[in-house]
Amino acid sequence: MIFKILLFSLFLSFFAHAHEINMEDKNVEQIVKQRMSNMSKIKAYSQKMYPLTMSGEFEEIKQLNDELLHIAKEFILLFPDGSQGGKASSLIWEDRETFELFNNNFISSIEDIDESINDEDSVSLVENFNIMASNCGTCHKKFRN
Ligand code: HEC
Repeated sequence: MIFKILLFSLFLSFFAHAHEINMEDKNVEQIVKQRMSNMSKIKAYSQKMYPLTMSGEFEEIKQLNDELLHIAKEFILLFPDGSQGGKASSLIWEDRETFELFNNNFISSIEDIDESINDEDSVSLVENFNIMASNCGTCHKKFRN
């Protein structure tokens, strides 16, 4: 019986966390460190992409853009309650709705780049890259100290 209950609770906790990063074993300091690291990678990938946008090297851009998308999707999960710290403005926890909107706009702009890559359309690729890059300042102005 106890074994069954154990199995069942394991099963439940698997589903509860399947789509989240496992943050239970992480303290606030580690979470802050991870989101800073995600942002540093976002900067590195977007800087690598920029000179390639006009090169027609769609395969190489796609690889970088996929990484960018993955890391941006993870970034939004790194702000659980009580994880105030680093350069993250406390506004993030006071106005989650706007913070999530800014993150979602950023993610959509990366997905738009992906479409341009699939179409092998350099003109819309440059346009969408610039839109993606404009999200950095918009979010930092409001949500980064
Ligand atoms: C939706 C909001 C948002 C978007 C979009 C965003 N950032 Fe950030 N960024 C933040 C926040 C919040 C921090 C502070 C995180 C912390 O210190 O806990 C940050 C921190 C940083 C840092 C400092 C990392 C460190 O190690 O301290 C860099 C560099 C950075 N962002 C670059 C970028 C670039 C480049 C882009 C666009 C390609 C971008 N960010 C898009 C919110 C955003």
